[in-house]
Amino acid sequence: MSHAEDHPGTRRDFLYYATAGAGVVVTGAAVWPLVNQMNPSADVQALSSIRVDVADVPPGTQITVKWLGKPVFIRRRTEEEIAEARTVDVSALPDPIARNANLDGAVPATDENRALDETGEWLVMMGVCTHLGCVPLGDGAGDFDGWFCPCHGSHYDTAGRIRRGPAPENLPVPLAEFADESTIVLG
Ligand code: FES
Repeated sequence: MSHAEDHPGTRRDFLYYATAGAGVVVTGAAVWPLVNQMNPSADVQALSSIRVDVADVPPGTQITVKWLGKPVFIRRRTEEEIAEARTVDVSALPDPIARNANLDGAVPATDENRALDETGEWLVMMGVCTHLGCVPLGDGAGDFDGWFCPCHGSHYDTAGRIRRGPAPENLPVPLAEFADESTIVLG
């Protein structure tokens, strides 16, 4: 009987495989979001919707909030970041799909289909690398001025779309909307 058969579906087994799968995780890399993602506790699951006050977020900065046990990036983008995101040829992207839970179907990964508001000032995304679950670095990190995952070198652009590296998909946009001009509701 194999080890897996001995302890089917246990958290210990999952942790083992998650760690093994992460391979060459470097110092500071956080695998815990992937673990949390797979094992949300009951109290965390109860908070399926949260309100975030973004009144004090200046342009060109972001905050990270914890939602359903996972980090969510809320970035207030500059005009330059928006313009950079909107000049990209979507058909040439590694993942041409928007990955936006607020939109139906597999709509294209235009910046307009990923930003929270029409101006594109606000971008809300799960802060979990789509490769193996590390938390990417932000504030213009990486070769495309967006986010960079140091675990295995995935570069995301200013719209959170994967541009280079092993991550297969764009950072997912969760259910989100403005409740008023300075409050974002997640979930
Ligand atoms: S977890 Fe591998 S590149 Fe992000």
